[in-house]
Amino acid sequence: MSRINMAVLLVLGLLLVTAKQSMQMSLRNPIAEIETSNCKVAFLRLGLVLASDNNEKALLDSGLFEPDSENPHVDIAGRRFHVGTLNKTPIMYVKTGTHSVNVAAAVQTLLLKFRTSGIIFFGSSGSLDENMLVPGDVAVPKAVAFTGVWEWKKFRSENKGKLVFGDFNYPVNGENLLGTVEHQKIDMFSTSEEPKEVFWLPISSSWYEAATEELKDLELKKCHSGTCLPGTPKIVFGSKASTSDFYVKNKAYGDFLVEMFNASTADSASGSVALTSLSNEKLFVVFQGVSNVAGGKSTNAGIKYIASYNAFLAATKFINSIPTPRLACE
Ligand SMILES: *[C@@H]1O[C@H](CO)[C@@H](O)[C@H](O)[C@H]1NC(C)=O
Repeated sequence: MSRINMAVLLVLGLLLVTAKQSMQMSLRNPIAEIETSNCKVAFLRLGLVLASDNNEKALLDSGLFEPDSENPHVDIAGRRFHVGTLNKTPIMYVKTGTHSVNVAAAVQTLLLKFRTSGIIFFGSSGSLDENMLVPGDVAVPKAVAFTGVWEWKKFRSENKGKLVFGDFNYPVNGENLLGTVEHQKIDMFSTSEEPKEVFWLPISSSWYEAATEELKDLELKKCHSGTCLPGTPKIVFGSKASTSDFYVKNKAYGDFLVEMFNASTADSASGSVALTSLSNEKLFVVFQGVSNVAGGKSTNAGIKYIASYNAFLAATKFINSIPTPRLACE
C-alpha cells in the first residue's frame, strides 16, 4: 500500500472514532454536550425556576436577563429552557406552570439535561397570617410541606384525622358526613439513600443561611404604574410554607394550616421544587412573593405584580451573591 493511501486510511479511521465518541456523548446527555463541547462555557449555571406568566414578566421587565447569543433556549417536552445571564451571573430559567406535577416535571428536566449547581425558585403565595405577611412582602421559608396529601377517613371512623369537617359546620359545630382527614407524609426518593416518608422538606441550610445574610437589607418595590402598597414591604425569614394543588382562599382552612402546622404561606409550587431538588441532592432555595391573604379581600393585578417583582428581586440578589462554580475543560 502506498504511503498516501496509508495516510488516508489513518485519517478516515480517526474520523470514525471521533464520530462514534461524539455520538455516544450526545446520546448520553445531548444538552450538556452543547454546553461543554468546546470549553466555551466552562462553568455551572444556576437554575432559576418560576411558575407563572406574572413571574416571568417581572424577570423580563427588569432588563437584567440577557439571553445567550448562540443558544438562547432549548425546548423540551413543551417547556422552554432559557439560557443566558442574570445581571452577569450565568443562569438558565424555566417557567413551569403551576401545580405539583408541572413544577416537578420541569425541575427534574432541568436537572437532568443541564449542568446546574442548584435551583433558585421564586413565585407567588398566599399569606395565612396577616400579622406576619401582607401582600407585597417576600417570605423566605425554612421548610415546606405538601399539605394536600390526604387520607380521607370514613364517616364516624374510629381512627380520626386532625381535620374534622364537623368543627367547621356553620352556624354551629356538629357532625358532618365528610368526616375527617389525616394529612399524609410523602415518599422521598434520593440518589444515595433508601426512599423514606417525610413531611417537612428543609430548604438547603447553606443557601438559606446565605439568603438571610445577603437579603437582610434588600429594598423592595412599593409601587407599580400608579398602584402602591399601603405599607413598606418587608422580607420575612424562617417561616414554614405549605404547598398543595388546591389554591387556599378559605380562611377557616388557612387558620387550620396555621394551628396544625404553623405554616405562614400557601402555594402550589414550592413543595415540588423542594422534593425534586432533594431527590437529586441539589441545593435549592425558595422566595415567595405574597400576593394575597387567605380569606382576605382580593388583591388587584398591580399588587400581584409587585409581589412577583419583589420575589424576583430577592432571587436576583441571592443569585448575584453566590460565586459561579467553574468546571475544568473537558
Ligand atoms: C411558628 O412560626 C413562627 C413564625 O415563623 C415562629 O416565630 C414560631 O416560633 C413558630 N412556633 C412554633 C411553635 O414552632
